[in-house]
Amino acid sequence: MATLSTKHLLGIKDLSVQDIDLILETAKSFKEVINRPIKKVPSLRDITVANLFFENSTRTRISFELAQKRLGADIINFSASTSSVKKGETLIDTANNILSMKVDMIVMRHSSPGACVFLAKKVNAHIINAGDGTHEHPTQALLDAFSIKEKLGTLKNVKVAIVGDILHSRVALSNILLLNKMGAKVKVCGPLTLMPKYIQALGIEVETNLMKALEWCDVANMLRIQLERQDTKYFPSLREYALMYQLNNEVLSKLKKEIIIMHPGPINRGVEITSDVADSKHSIILEQVENGVAVRMAVMYLLAGINH
Ligand code: CP
Repeated sequence: MATLSTKHLLGIKDLSVQDIDLILETAKSFKEVINRPIKKVPSLRDITVANLFFENSTRTRISFELAQKRLGADIINFSASTSSVKKGETLIDTANNILSMKVDMIVMRHSSPGACVFLAKKVNAHIINAGDGTHEHPTQALLDAFSIKEKLGTLKNVKVAIVGDILHSRVALSNILLLNKMGAKVKVCGPLTLMPKYIQALGIEVETNLMKALEWCDVANMLRIQLERQDTKYFPSLREYALMYQLNNEVLSKLKKEIIIMHPGPINRGVEITSDVADSKHSIILEQVENGVAVRMAVMYLLAGINH
């Protein structure tokens, strides 16, 4: 059986092209499974997974839990807001206490970049990064890639414009790393104040004009402005941002072609995208969510097969 080259999924940067291909191919099989009348397979029977969410989540948390249930795993759900973290318990003490109950795999979301890397060095369980601050969100990038490949048949030479708050987005970084590895072409688009310094080092072109980015791309991945991570003003107002960077029907009607519209969620309707566009036939936002379950099943199934 083909296996991954890594014991953990901490970031896309640790995955080889073969790893990514293997995850996407395995996810295809799991998508077939979850569309059958009997949606469960016992691949993770006797495996215990702890979902540690130190930061809010809807899609990722539910998707991981459903994927675990479909694979027959035993599940522990931990939410920092109702835990002893509120009494001052540290991340490592929390993790060690949970692991002493014989947990095999940890899925963790944390607001600190690198929290999963830290945990992976300290504990003897498979760690999956479900989003660490502004750093990486590898399963989001994998499900985005799966969704693009499902629509276009390939990632090679597909032109993807990632639009919005690139500076604070772990989705942007993981997508850029993955799409670069798989031979897609990527541009980021948004105000220069929302571009990270490292962007040029990644070989990515920056486009500040939304219309030009859309005319260039096959796929537009629209990101939300992450006000909760912004300690300073990066643009005058949300209204002004929307005037320049909102994907709406007026903008789309000027395009001479059709593009695929993506969004990782949560959507700020009326800011980066209007409701009519988010809910249009060109949008694959809910397909992304559906594909997330199959992709996360693939990741956990493949990691569970590694014993080093
Ligand atoms: N896309 C995503 O990570 O959504 P959640 O924050 O709801 O998990």
